[in-house]
Amino acid sequence: MKIAIINGPNLNLTGIREPDTYGNTGFDTYIPQLRSEFPEHEIVYFQSNVEGEIINVLHEAGFSSDGIILNAGAYTHTSVAIGDAVKAIKAPVIEVHMSNVWAREEFRQRSFVSPAARGVIAGFGLGSYRLALLSLFST
Ligand code: DQA
Repeated sequence: MKIAIINGPNLNLTGIREPDTYGNTGFDTYIPQLRSEFPEHEIVYFQSNVEGEIINVLHEAGFSSDGIILNAGAYTHTSVAIGDAVKAIKAPVIEVHMSNVWAREEFRQRSFVSPAARGVIAGFGLGSYRLALLSLFST
């Protein structure tokens, strides 16, 4: 399968940023680990801090991938436009979060992505992405 992992704002600083919440490992380390664990699948990785760039990549990957793993970061809780993009595309989208957003501030408990997502995985650190991949491989 061809899977796109799309990360939103501040996730480029994972491993450095708020390590008590998001851990000590960044995506530069983690994405190669996923690729070597699942060599039979193509894992495409994209990160942007810019809302419109995330939407453009959703439009592209949404018609050329078998599935999308989306962590829109804080845009999850604010972006009607990203929610609309998820509704507009064909590929199934798994919403992921490293932290358990429901155990945090109330503003993190609203998602514009969830209504159009196939499912939501949160709270397993970087392992949330691995679980999302497994869910796409098994459905
Ligand atoms: C996050 C949770 C969001 O609330 C936050 O804004 C992030 C990361 C997570 O992966 O836990 O940037 O999406």
